[in-house]
Amino acid sequence: MGKDVIIACDFADARETLAFLNRFSPLQNRPFAKIGMELFYAEGPDMVRRIRDMGHPIFLDLKLHDIPNTVKKAMAVLSRLDVDLCNLHAGGGRPMMEAALEGLTRPDGTRPKLIAVTMLTSTDQTVMERDLLIGRPLSEVVMHYAETAREAGLDGVVCSPLEAGLVHERCGGSFLTVTPGIRFADSEKGDQRRVTTPADARALGSDYIVVGRPITAAADPVAAYQKCLEDFVL
Ligand code: C5P
Repeated sequence: MGKDVIIACDFADARETLAFLNRFSPLQNRPFAKIGMELFYAEGPDMVRRIRDMGHPIFLDLKLHDIPNTVKKAMAVLSRLDVDLCNLHAGGGRPMMEAALEGLTRPDGTRPKLIAVTMLTSTDQTVMERDLLIGRPLSEVVMHYAETAREAGLDGVVCSPLEAGLVHERCGGSFLTVTPGIRFADSEKGDQRRVTTPADARALGSDYIVVGRPITAAADPVAAYQKCLEDFVL
């Protein structure tokens, strides 16, 4: 997998999602689509199959976090959906991540790529210290979780483009950095705080950018997607 733009399909139901994705049917290559909890819980695995059958590569963003045996079995189910990328919380620990990889691996040895969420961007230093009783600096914790994910055999992490360089330095150049928090220079930030343009994400070494509202809420989503491709990939 090379550099690519992943569209966050944060829609409430199948009708809205398919209406949106159908706009991309004239393109030669269907965009990489991220399906998150909201859509998956609303529409179930059939939604994944339908989007896959339309030719979209899929990032199934369900962020698993449970005991190793449960995660292993759940991952085996997800791998049968034939998605390209899925994820879990590194906070579940190394045994959970190793079990996830085992579950994800199909009988023929192939498997979707697996990446880890380190610390949620909604978790700041205060929440970490007060609620999780972790006293180390947040950036150190994020890098430690990334290294643990690499040691467990995972393929990469979700992180900010601003962290991509350091993740590659610590975990290797082929360890994937999948980076949300992307905005065009002239677009609304919304609830994102630290944002990066597609061109800057490329310069910072991101492997994949995850883009939601700058594409989904654009007057012309296909043009916005193509602009992301031009700035990030081409
Ligand atoms: O609309 P926007 O471009 O902000 O969407 C970003 C997508 O990436 C959303 O689906 C959001 O849940 C996801 N995400 C994020 N920050 C993280 C992890 C995931 O924005 N740290």
